Amino acid sequence: MNILLLGSGGREHALAWKIRQSPKTERLFIAPGNAGTNDVGTNVPIAATDFEALKKFTLENRVRMVVVGPEDPLVRGIYDFFSGDAELKNIPVIGPSKRGAQLEGSKEFAKAFMMRHNIPTARYMSVTKNNVNEGAVFLETLQPPYVLKADGLAAGKGVLIIDNLPEAKKELNAMLNGSFGKASETVVIEAFLQGIECSVFVMTDGKSYKILPEAKDYKRIGEGDTGLNTGGMGAVSPVSFADEAFMKKVEERIVIPTIEGLRSEQIDYKGFIFLGLINVDGNPQVIEYNCRMGDPETEAVMLRIQSDFVDLLEGVAQGNLHEKALAFDSRSAVTVMLVSGGYPAGDYEKGKVITGLDKVNGSIVFHAGTIEKNGRILTNGGRVIAVSSCGGNKDEALRQSFQNAEVIRFDSKYYRKDIGFDLK
Ligand code: AMP
Ligand code: GLY
Repeated sequence: MNILLLGSGGREHALAWKIRQSPKTERLFIAPGNAGTNDVGTNVPIAATDFEALKKFTLENRVRMVVVGPEDPLVRGIYDFFSGDAELKNIPVIGPSKRGAQLEGSKEFAKAFMMRHNIPTARYMSVTKNNVNEGAVFLETLQPPYVLKADGLAAGKGVLIIDNLPEAKKELNAMLNGSFGKASETVVIEAFLQGIECSVFVMTDGKSYKILPEAKDYKRIGEGDTGLNTGGMGAVSPVSFADEAFMKKVEERIVIPTIEGLRSEQIDYKGFIFLGLINVDGNPQVIEYNCRMGDPETEAVMLRIQSDFVDLLEGVAQGNLHEKALAFDSRSAVTVMLVSGGYPAGDYEKGKVITGLDKVNGSIVFHAGTIEKNGRILTNGGRVIAVSSCGGNKDEALRQSFQNAEVIRFDSKYYRKDIGFDLK
C-alpha cells in the first residue's frame, strides 16, 4: 500500500520510521517532510494544509492511506475534504473529522464535551466580551494561580498562568481584546490543578480503542523545568507514576467516556486522541485533549511499539481495531531534543551544518528541523534533532541518548541534560 504522511517534524520522522518497518508499506511519501524523513520515504514539496495539491498527488500516486501528523490540517477539515470528495472518499485519512478535531481546536468545546460526559477536569468558565464581568466574578471564586486559556489554536502558547487576581483580570481583558488574535475572542478560565503531568495516547476507530504507551514530556527550555516554554525538549516512556492502578482510572474515567461521548454525539473520529493529564493525588484529570500524537513523545513511544503499526492504522481506518494486536516493549524509551542556541526566542540562527550523524551508535536519530542542501544536512528550525534510545530503565536509555547528543555537532547546539529528572 502507498501511504502519504503529512507533516515535517520529529514526530513525523518517528511515524515514518515506524510505518516504513511494516511489510504492508510499499511507497511512503511525506509532505513536506524534512532531511530525515527522506531517508525512510520520499519527501513531497506540498504543504500539509494544501488540500487541493494533496488531492492531485494522492490520485496520481495511488495513495491508499493518509496519516496526519500535526493538528492544523485536521482542524481545517482534511478528513471531511477527503470523505466529501467523490474521487477521494475511499481513501482513509487517519485523524478525526473537523468536528472531532475541535477537541483540540477549541478549549471551550473540549471543556463542554468533558462536562457532558462527566470526564474529570478542572472547574472552568468560558468568557467572551459579552460576559466579561461574570468572568471577573468567577476569577474571584478561584484560588491563585489563575489559568487563562485562549479558546483557539495559538501554537501552544495560548495558556497563561498568573499569580495574582488584578493581573489575571487585566490579562483576561487583554486576551478578549485580541492579544492572541481571534484565538482569544473566547477565553476559558480554569481552576489551577496541582500535580505532575503525563501524556496518554489512544488510537480509535470510533468504537474500539487501544491505549499506546504513555510518556512524559519536558516543555521548558531550562533544566529543572525553568524558563520559557518550547515545543518540547525531551520525553520519557513509561512514566513511573502511571502505574497499573493509575492507568485503570485513566481508562475507566477518561478513555471510555471520551470514545463513548464521541460515538453518542456522532462525531467521526478515526485517529489518535492525546490526553494531556495531570495526576492530582493519584487521580487523573484532563488538562487538554489533542487530536494527534505528541511531539516529542512520539519520538520515544514509537520505539516501544512492537506490532505492525500499519496493521493498526488499517484497523483504525476499517473499523476493526479490536481485532488487531498491540504489543509493546516493557523497557524504557527516551528522547532528547537538540535545539538551536537562542531557541525558543525568535532570534536563533538557521542553516548551520550538522555533523557526526554517521557516528551515532546505539540511538535512533529523528530529524525535527533539518534540511538537506548540496549533500549537507543543515539546521532548519529551533528544535533540530531528537536522539532516541531504549534501555532497561530510563537512566540507561538516557545515558545512551546523552552520549550521542555529544557526538552530533552543530554551532550553538543546546540540550537539557536533566530529562526524566522528576521521575523514579
Ligand atoms: P494546555 O495548552 O492546555 O496543555 O496548557 C499548557 C500547560 O499549562 C499545561 O501543560 C500545564 O502545564 C499548564 N496548565 C494548563 N491548565 C492547567 C490547570 N488547570 N492547572 C494547572 N496547570 C495547567
Ligand atoms: N508534547 C506536547 C504536544 O505535542 O503538544
